[in-house]
Amino acid sequence: MDIPRLHPDTIEQVKQRVDIVDVISDHVVLRKRGKDFTGLCPFHDDKSPSFSVSPTKQFYYCFSCGVGGNAITFLMETGKRSFADVVLDLAKRYQVPIQTLEPAQRQELQRQISLREQLYDVLALTARFYEHALQQSQGEAALPYLRDKRQLSQETIQQFQLGYAPAGWQTLYGYLIEQKRYPVELVEKAGLIVPRQEGRGHYDRFRDRLMIPIHDLQGRVIGFGGRSLGDEQPKYLNSPETELFDKGKTLFALDKARTAIAKHDRVIIVEGYFDVIALHAAGITNVVASLGTALSVTQIRQLLRYTESKQIVLNFDADAAGTKAAERAIGEIADLAYQGEVQLRILTIPQGKDPDEFLKTHSAADYQALLDNAPLWLDWQIQQILADSDLHQADQFQQGTQEIVKLLGNLPNATLRTHYIHYCAEILSQGNARLAVQLESDLRTQVRGQRWHGRSQKWQRPGDRTLLEESEAQLLRLYLHLSEYRTLIMQSLEERDLDFSFAHHRFLWQQILELKDADNQAPSPSPQPADLLSQLRDRCTEFPDKQAQIYPLFQLDEKAKRDILRAPLVIRAAIAGMERVMCDKRRRHFLDLWKQTDCANAPELCQYYQQQIYAENQRIADLDQQQRQVTLDDLAQIPWVGEFKDALERSQS
Ligand code: UTP
Ligand code: MN
Repeated sequence: MDIPRLHPDTIEQVKQRVDIVDVISDHVVLRKRGKDFTGLCPFHDDKSPSFSVSPTKQFYYCFSCGVGGNAITFLMETGKRSFADVVLDLAKRYQVPIQTLEPAQRQELQRQISLREQLYDVLALTARFYEHALQQSQGEAALPYLRDKRQLSQETIQQFQLGYAPAGWQTLYGYLIEQKRYPVELVEKAGLIVPRQEGRGHYDRFRDRLMIPIHDLQGRVIGFGGRSLGDEQPKYLNSPETELFDKGKTLFALDKARTAIAKHDRVIIVEGYFDVIALHAAGITNVVASLGTALSVTQIRQLLRYTESKQIVLNFDADAAGTKAAERAIGEIADLAYQGEVQLRILTIPQGKDPDEFLKTHSAADYQALLDNAPLWLDWQIQQILADSDLHQADQFQQGTQEIVKLLGNLPNATLRTHYIHYCAEILSQGNARLAVQLESDLRTQVRGQRWHGRSQKWQRPGDRTLLEESEAQLLRLYLHLSEYRTLIMQSLEERDLDFSFAHHRFLWQQILELKDADNQAPSPSPQPADLLSQLRDRCTEFPDKQAQIYPLFQLDEKAKRDILRAPLVIRAAIAGMERVMCDKRRRHFLDLWKQTDCANAPELCQYYQQQIYAENQRIADLDQQQRQVTLDDLAQIPWVGEFKDALERSQS
């Protein structure tokens, strides 16, 4: 359908009616802070909530990345949609009558809206019909099935609106079409009846089945899953894709799980409807299911809106099909997992059980314990590869090694790679220490080769290097050109035991220190900025190979001039940036030491390393926090942002 030209009145009414908190809540977990709401910014990789939504101003703003706007721009940006498209959707959502400029289009539009609305309507009525049938004599077999075989309480049955589709060919048909006078085409479009292959007429899609309604995020019924009560095939019959129901974009029970996901900051994905129902009934409610299809990236992204630390646990069946499904699912989200965008864990229940079966003989606490011990997906994949190979057979050993190399070659993080290379060498060597050393070195070489050839380039983060280089350069420039900040810069570096990382920066700093020493010994007062600069220039002529890299620091380009205007901020940020890199280096160093230590024999040493790693982690978190503060302070110089920032700070304290 062409996007119609909307009447200005319609746009205005939508703007007035729409509630920004309501709209954004569908995409971002929002917490109330004072009179505003905050959450993780969906427009950049936000580690702590810098995204603020003001219901009074009907405006959002991110203090980290600087995006801002109203409900309409939010939906345009997140969905990459046009203005008219978004306004239309909001008009439907908030029941604003749509006026377009062309009458013909207007009619078409109203027809489409009313189609969707009628579909919701007929599906809701059908769900009630099935629920009712479950309690009638026709549901005679279905109710005991739920109560006894599935051990579900009346409360759970009601909560999930479980029902029963009676056995006849035209039971629902009779009710909806003959009794309630719904048009046949509408009921067919809802996926509830199917046209007969030959001849005329329609029959009910779901017959003699236990009915499980599938809801959208707003809790409206959009489709059904129907389970046979006995051995009839297929075991599950699902609604076809319709105007309202898109399997790849829907997750079963997300409407019921979203608050718990946000609360526990973790989501569990299971395979089956009844796995979800059993877990919810047992009080574990941060659980959803995919709908018998492979998980899509869309579904994963949908879930990530609700968990801040992006923890996803896949609990697929331990049978061959479940393992396949898990592998397929990982294939889809591997990119996200490799880059650390999701923390993916794989839970397999012993003895090949699914969660529903497990809970029949175990408690929720037992399940929780399994959950807490679920391996990270990479460990799980390594386990899978090794479990499939008999390492005593040369060819299988070779094959397993190749798969591991492929797996590890994709890891962008060097520390993790080192860790896993070591770990895999240990396993592959089966207790032979000399072999382990040899294998570790072989694996490292092979993984490096794989990274060179493979798609590894895209994981490398050149940004890190340039950021550090930029921080160091800024600091040196300010030092050279602003004599009043020299003491501050010198002290900050000394206090934090920081050094410059880039050879040419280290060289320049060395010259500065030497000049300073010479100066301290001389009786005259310290040189003026021009003096320092010219002295340095003179010195550098002796080192022609360094000139090309150092001379730019002697000049002030546009950016440097701006930096000078806000020197204290720039200094703080640059120092924090440098310190962060140092911390990260130390952390890696301790991590390496720790991994090389036999913790059984040297527990104190182990503990010491762990403490160091922990301390560096803390420091890094602090620095990130400071960095954000610098960004905030910086932004606060823009007047209208200042107001937001004050509000945010008040609410955080
Ligand atoms: P399972 O076969 O593992 O079902 O399919 P289950 O949940 O353990 O079933 P019960 O406990 O025997 O009732 C997992 C999911 O795959 C989809 C359904 O969504 C089901 O919940 N599925 C399975 C289908 O869509 N059609 C089928 O025929 C089978
Ligand atoms: Mn099951």
